[in-house]
Amino acid sequence: MEDTPLAKVRSYVLRGGRLGPGQERALAELGPRFVLPFEPRPLQAQAVFGRSAPLVVEIGFGMGDATAAVAAAAPERDFIGIEVHEAGVGALLKRIGEQQLANLRLLRHDAVEVLGAMIAPDSLAAVHVWFPDPWPKKRHHKRRLIQPPFVALLASRLAPGGYLHCATDWAPYAQQMLEVLQAEPALANRSPGFAPRPAWRPLTKFENRGLLLGHGVWDLVFERRRASFGPGDEAPVVGREHEQAEADAVPGKGPEVVARDPAQ
Ligand SMILES: C[S@@+](CC[C@H](N)C(=O)[O-])C[C@H]1O[C@@H](n2cnc3c(N)ncnc32)[C@H](O)[C@@H]1O
Repeated sequence: MEDTPLAKVRSYVLRGGRLGPGQERALAELGPRFVLPFEPRPLQAQAVFGRSAPLVVEIGFGMGDATAAVAAAAPERDFIGIEVHEAGVGALLKRIGEQQLANLRLLRHDAVEVLGAMIAPDSLAAVHVWFPDPWPKKRHHKRRLIQPPFVALLASRLAPGGYLHCATDWAPYAQQMLEVLQAEPALANRSPGFAPRPAWRPLTKFENRGLLLGHGVWDLVFERRRASFGPGDEAPVVGREHEQAEADAVPGKGPEVVARDPAQ
């Protein structure tokens, strides 16, 4: 696998498509408060949320169903969802309004640029990258997000002990993720190989589509090492609260989750 320099190739193609009336209304009414502008300087999370709390970034939230569920389940944490697709931003804003989610803000911008410019080093409790576009054709592999330069950037933004959680339903990409994450010296795998599917991770829209197609699902959870990390050092516990339920899952296999038929 060749390394592609950061910001040379986009990991997405902007889709057109009309906004639903609810999405349009949410963008107009809630956008000014909940969508942060892209700025080439570090975000002041404390000022944005009006408090100091562990900060979690989700990259490519799609329509945001899982994002809203996770933010609602963890009111003690603050979340920033990054997505380029306007309809997705509108859909998640609608949920923010319906569920009164005060701990979630959105950015409609390329996550590679946001992480580089707006997120300070050592500042995040967690990064979620759930079902990034798999770009299955070989000539498109360079568009995949999970590649060494971006993973190094993500690792540098995590606080020591913070975690990077990736998931995919595309077997070759799962293998690439494992190789790339294992090769990043700042990260340590929390599991031997693929991780059990954390029970707290909601079924995402894209995951559900993959399950209906008979795909497997692979989770990977890696932790930012402390600078002095070495034999006998214990990893700190930032962001491990949700792990209790992981023991129920089957390591390295697809999740015990049944796809929902969208027609029902
Ligand atoms: C395959 S979809 C998965 C969406 C959602 N996570 C899910 O599981 O349903 C990947 C999403 O990532 C977004 N995306 C891809 N590259 C991105 C980037 N560099 N910055 C922000 N969003 C990105 C795409 O627009 C798309 O909505």
